[in-house]
Amino acid sequence: MTTLLHIDSSPMGDASISRHLTHEFARQWSLAHADGDVLYRDLACTEIPVIDAAWSAANFTPAEMRTPAQNDLLAKSGVFTAELHRADDYVIGVPMHNWGPSASFKLWVDHIVRQGETVQASVSGPRGMLGGKRATFVIAAGGHYAAGAAMAPLNFIEPWLRTLFGYLGLEEMRFVVADGAVNVLNGTLGRSEFLAPHIERVRQAAMRNALAPAPRMTA
Ligand SMILES: Cc1cc2nc3c(=O)[nH]c(=O)nc-3n(C[C@H](O)[C@H](O)[C@H](O)COP(=O)(O)O)c2cc1C
Repeated sequence: MTTLLHIDSSPMGDASISRHLTHEFARQWSLAHADGDVLYRDLACTEIPVIDAAWSAANFTPAEMRTPAQNDLLAKSGVFTAELHRADDYVIGVPMHNWGPSASFKLWVDHIVRQGETVQASVSGPRGMLGGKRATFVIAAGGHYAAGAAMAPLNFIEPWLRTLFGYLGLEEMRFVVADGAVNVLNGTLGRSEFLAPHIERVRQAAMRNALAPAPRMTA
């Protein structure tokens, strides 16, 4: 069975652009995968502890030497990394907040980059353990970041996501950037009109995944 991990991280509920688009991706993906399974993780509604010294110490303690309290500290991270391993495809909504991701998304990231869980030491250096997975990232932003726009160099999210998920082993990443959402917020463009081309792009991305199933790789 093929599994999609659908992640949202916008705190804006039904008004969110990224949520609308990730749901459209998941809907299309489900239509194309009759026996597919969708795992949903809403980071804006998930309590995610800020990393502290105790968590870090637990993380760097070899698994067989951890105390029950240390295992408890790492339990949530274990749930998140298990979801990443279980799924074949990911669709991940990332709203731009102050040129970075939302706070909940960054907290989640701090919990998923873990030696022995998502990254393995090897003679040639760290090796990501999520090889063979595919991700479609839906970035929603108020400003305009398309090539040539004055603010284009300020889209730090896309290169950061490429670096991060590349480090975890992903080779296939797609980006749908729904930028210029300020026009919806200030009423100069209708929400449906703004969303229409992006809905088409996420539908096409979901269909491409169906036509070319991800190679299954073992870590
Ligand atoms: C706290 C906050 C910070 C924001 N910072 C930026 C920013 O740095 N650059 C930008 O282009 N838009 C910024 N925006 C606008 C959002 O990126 C935009 O509203 C986008 O649609 C958010 O995604 P969402 O609709 O899925 O929540 C910010 C919005 C909020 C609420």
